[in-house]
Amino acid sequence: MTVEDSRIRLLVVDDEYTIRRLCMTVGGTLGYVCSEAESAETALAQGLASAPDIVLVDLRLPKLSGAELLRQIKSRLPSTEVVIMTGHGSIASAVEAMKLGAYDYIQKPFRVEELRLLLRRMEEKIRLVQENRVLRERVETDQQLDGIIGESSKIREVLQMIGRLKDTWTPVLIRGESGTGKELVARAIHYRGAFAKRPFVTVDCGALVPTLMESDLFGYTKGAFTGAAKSKMGLFQAADGGTIFLDEIGELPLELQAKLLRVLQEKEIRPVGSNTNISVQVRVVAATNRDLNAALRDGTFRKDLYYRLNVVSVFIPPLRERRSDIPMLVHCFLDRHAEGETIEVTPAAIKLLMHHDWPGNVRELENCISRALALGDHRCIDESDLAPALRNENDAPNVQLPTPMEDDAASTVALDDLERLTIQRVFEKVGGNKEKAGELLGISRATLYRKLKRYQIAASQLKEETTS
Ligand SMILES: Nc1ncnc2c1ncn2[C@@H]1O[C@H](COP(=O)(O)OP(=O)(O)OP(=O)(O)O)[C@@H](O)[C@H]1O
Ligand SMILES: [Mg+2]
Repeated sequence: MTVEDSRIRLLVVDDEYTIRRLCMTVGGTLGYVCSEAESAETALAQGLASAPDIVLVDLRLPKLSGAELLRQIKSRLPSTEVVIMTGHGSIASAVEAMKLGAYDYIQKPFRVEELRLLLRRMEEKIRLVQENRVLRERVETDQQLDGIIGESSKIREVLQMIGRLKDTWTPVLIRGESGTGKELVARAIHYRGAFAKRPFVTVDCGALVPTLMESDLFGYTKGAFTGAAKSKMGLFQAADGGTIFLDEIGELPLELQAKLLRVLQEKEIRPVGSNTNISVQVRVVAATNRDLNAALRDGTFRKDLYYRLNVVSVFIPPLRERRSDIPMLVHCFLDRHAEGETIEVTPAAIKLLMHHDWPGNVRELENCISRALALGDHRCIDESDLAPALRNENDAPNVQLPTPMEDDAASTVALDDLERLTIQRVFEKVGGNKEKAGELLGISRATLYRKLKRYQIAASQLKEETTS
C-alpha cells in the first residue's frame, strides 16, 4: 500500500513577502506542501497546527524573535527541523540558533540552488527518521494500542481491512450495529499506521448542538456572532494532517451534510464569519449504526456525500454472527476489569454466554462481565452470576443443535466456525463421549474423528478451552 501523504510540509516564516514567495516557490518545485506566516505569532497560532517537517525562520522578525520561535517549535514539535535565515553580519546569532537546535542556517541573500540543496539534504534526514519511527510504531501499536480481540474469520477480515487502510487518505465508512467496536476500529485505522503521531479527532455527530455544529466543525472568527470574542479553530482544523472520526454520521443534518461535502471536495474549510477559506488535509473515517440506504431513499442523507464517505466500507458483523470470539472477549474483559486476578469461568457460564444473542454486541458482553464481577466472589464466574436475562434464555429448550437461531447465523458465519462451535457444544453436552456426540450430530464415528482432528478439538482440551 502506498503512503499517499509522503509529501514534506514546509512552513516559511518571514516578514518579507518576497522571501516568503521565493521559499514557497522552491519548496513547491520540490513537491512540498508549503505554507507561510508573516510573523512568529502567526506561525505559533496557525502554522504549527499542520505539524510541518521543515520550518524556515527569519532570525529577525518584528515582535517575537526567530530564536524564540525556534525554541518554541523545538519544544512543541521536537522532530520538526528548523533552518534559520540570517542577514549579513549576524553569523554569531546564527551560531547561537544552532545551539538551540536549528538544523542549519542560510545567509541572505541566497541563491535558489543553495536553498534547494539544503532542503534536499534535510528531506533525506527527515525520511530516514520517519521510516524508523513508523516501523517502531507498527510493532508497538499492533501489540497494544487498540486491542481488537477475536480470531473468527469475520474479525480477521476486519483486521485485514485495517491493515490495508491504515496508511492511506482513503475515506472509510465503518458500519455495524451498536457496540460492535466501530470506534475501536476507527482508532486502529489511525493508530496502527503512519498517522499514529498525528491528530485523531472524534466528532459525535449525534451529540453536537445543532446551532453550534457548524462553528464546532469549522471554527469561527472573532465577532462572527454574539459571544465570539476570539476566533476559534474548528475540529476539522484540529484534525489537519490526521484523521477526523465522524461518529454517528447518519445524525448529521442535511444542511451540514452539504457543507461537509464541500470540505471533502475542496479540501478547504471556511470558519463561520470568515470570507476566506483555509485548506485542510484530513482523512475522514465515518461510522454509522443506521441503515444509511434507508436514509438515502427517504432523502435524509445526501447520496453524493454518501459516495464520498463510502469509498471503502468496513462492516463489523454483530457478535451473534461470530460467537467463537466470545470466550476470548470474556477473558479480555476479565483482564480489563479485574486486572491481576485469576478468575475462572465455568463451562456452563461460557455456554450461556455463547448462546445469548447480544443485541448490544461486545459492549453488552463487557457490561455483563463487569456486572458479574461486581456481584460475584472474584474467584469464579458461574451461571448464577450472569444476568437473569441470559439465564432464562437457556432454560427453555433442551439444546437442539443447530438451533434455528444458528441457522440464521449460518448464512453469514463462516461455516467452519459454526461447525467447530457446534461440535464443541455437543461434545460438552455429552461430557466428551464421542459415540454419543456422533449420534447427536448425526455423523459417523469416522467423520467425527476427522472433524475433531481438523478443528483440533480433543475431549480433554475441550474443558480447558471453555474454562481458561
Ligand atoms: N473486538 C473487540 N475486542 C475488544 N474489545 C472490543 C471489541 N469490540 C468492541 N470492544 C469493546 O466494546 C465496547 C464498545 O465498542 P465501541 O465503542 O467501539 O463500539 P461502537 O460500535 O462504536 O458502538 P456504538 O454504535 O454504540 O457507538 C468498547 O469498550 C470496546 O473496547
Ligand atoms: Mg461508537
